[in-house]
Amino acid sequence: MPDQTSRPDPLTPVLTKRWLSPRSWTLQTYEQLEGYTALRKALAGTPEQLVQLVKDSGLRGRGGAGFPAGVKWSFMPTGPGAGVDRPHYLVINADEGEPGTCKDIPLMMADPHSLIEGCVIAAYAMRSHHCFIYVRGEVPHCIRRLNAAIREAYQAGYLGRNILKSGYDLDITVHAGAGAYICGEETALLDSLEGRRGQPRLKPPFPAASGLYAAPTTVNNVETIASVPFIVNGGSDWFRSMGTERSPGPKIFSVSGHVERPGQYEAPLGTTLRTLLDMAGGMKDGIPLKFWTPGGSSTPLFTAEHLDVPLDFEGAAEAGSMLGTTALMIFNETVSVPWAVMKWTEFYEHESCGKCTPCREGTYWLAGILHRMVAGNGTESDIETMLDICDNVLGRSFCALADGAVSPIVSGIQYFRDEFLALCDRSAKAVNPALAGATA
Ligand SMILES: Cc1cc2nc3c(=O)[nH]c(=O)nc-3n(C[C@H](O)[C@H](O)[C@H](O)COP(=O)(O)O)c2cc1C
Ligand code: SF4
Repeated sequence: MPDQTSRPDPLTPVLTKRWLSPRSWTLQTYEQLEGYTALRKALAGTPEQLVQLVKDSGLRGRGGAGFPAGVKWSFMPTGPGAGVDRPHYLVINADEGEPGTCKDIPLMMADPHSLIEGCVIAAYAMRSHHCFIYVRGEVPHCIRRLNAAIREAYQAGYLGRNILKSGYDLDITVHAGAGAYICGEETALLDSLEGRRGQPRLKPPFPAASGLYAAPTTVNNVETIASVPFIVNGGSDWFRSMGTERSPGPKIFSVSGHVERPGQYEAPLGTTLRTLLDMAGGMKDGIPLKFWTPGGSSTPLFTAEHLDVPLDFEGAAEAGSMLGTTALMIFNETVSVPWAVMKWTEFYEHESCGKCTPCREGTYWLAGILHRMVAGNGTESDIETMLDICDNVLGRSFCALADGAVSPIVSGIQYFRDEFLALCDRSAKAVNPALAGATA
C-alpha cells in the first residue's frame, strides 16, 4: 500500500489541471505547463519499460469496464513471428455515448494535447505507427479542435516522421462516427471504422490478435490514454498514491442533474457521492436526493442509502452496481422512477443494433410495457413480466448493451417497487393523478 501520509489533497487536479488556463487547448499553453515532457522521457526508454510502468501504475481503463491498461497493452504481439511485422493500431474510443457521460469531450476541448501526447507514448509502447481517434459525429466543434491540435503537433515534430529525432514515426487520424451508441462498443467501433455498419464482433479473436483491418489493435478510452503522460512524468508510485489499492489514480466524475453546480469534478477513485455532492454545491434548491447512477444509465441505480459507497471499481460492485463511466446522474424527490426508467429503456430500444434476439426483442417489449405502465394502464403482473424478460436478456445477449439496458429496470424495481405498483393501483391514481403520468 502507498504511504497514506503522502497522499495529495483530494482536490489536487491532475487530468484537469490545465483546463482553466488561458487558451488551454493550444500547444503554447500545453508546453508552458509541462506538455510533451513525458514524451521525451518515454522515447528515451524502451516500449517494454513503458508497458511495465503502466502495469505497475495499476491504471484501469476509464471507458467503463476497468480493464488494466498495461495488461491490455501487453497482449499486443512483440516479437518476430508473433505478428510484429504486421501493422499495429492504437484506436482511441472517443464515442462517449453512455447517457450521463460527458468527460471525454470536455477533456478533448480543454486539453487535446494531453490526449495526443498520450497517444504517441501508448502507440510507441505498442509498436504502432498509426493511431485513430474515433469521435462521435455530433461534436464537430470537438473534432475541429482535435484536428487543430494535431496539426500543431505535426508542425512541432511531436507527430509524423522521426518524432523528436527518435527514429519513431506516428500518424494520427481523427474519424467522426455517425451517432450510434453501439459504435462505442470496441468491436462495433472497429467495424464502423472499416466502413461497415457498426455491430459487435464475436470474441475471440480479441482485437490484440485481430482488430482493425484484422491487424493487432488496442482500443482505449480517451481518459485512459490522457492519464499516461502524467504516469510517465510522476511515476507509478505517485499515481498509486491517489485512489485505492485496486483502483488507483484520479478520475473525472461527471456530475449532472439536480445539483447546484453540475460539471466535471476530478477526485481520486474511492471518493464518495457525499464528497462529490459537497463539491457540486449540494442538491439543487435543497430538495433531497432520491436516486442516482454511479456510472451512467447502464449501471444499476443507487439511492440516498448509498451516499457513502466508495466510488471505485470494487466499492461500487460490492454495493450492487458498477463504476462504469463515473457519470453521476442525480435525481431528486420530484422525479418518478418508472418514468426515468422508461426514458432510459426507450434509449436502449432505439440503440439496440438488432443483431441478437434477446436484446432486440427484449428492449422492444420492455419499452412497451413501461409506456403502458407510465400511462396508467399497468397491471401488477407487468412487474413480474418485466423481471422475467430482464432475466432472459441479462447475460444472454451478444454484447454488454443489453446487460446495461436491464440495469435501470431491475434496480428501479428493487428499490422503488411501490412506485411501479402505484401505477397499477387505480384508486391511488384517482387520489394522485400525477401517478398516472410522467412527472419530472
Ligand atoms: C454499448 C457499449 C457502448 C460503449 N461505449 C463506449 C464509449 O463511448 N467510450 C468508451 O471508451 N468505451 C465504451 N464502451 C466500452 C468499450 O467497449 C471498451 O471497453 C473501451 O473502449 C476500452 O477502453 P478502456 O480499456 O480504456 O476503458 C462501450 C461498451 C458498450 C458495450
Ligand atoms: S446485445 Fe443488443 S446491441 Fe449488442 S449485439 Fe445484441 S442486439 Fe446488438
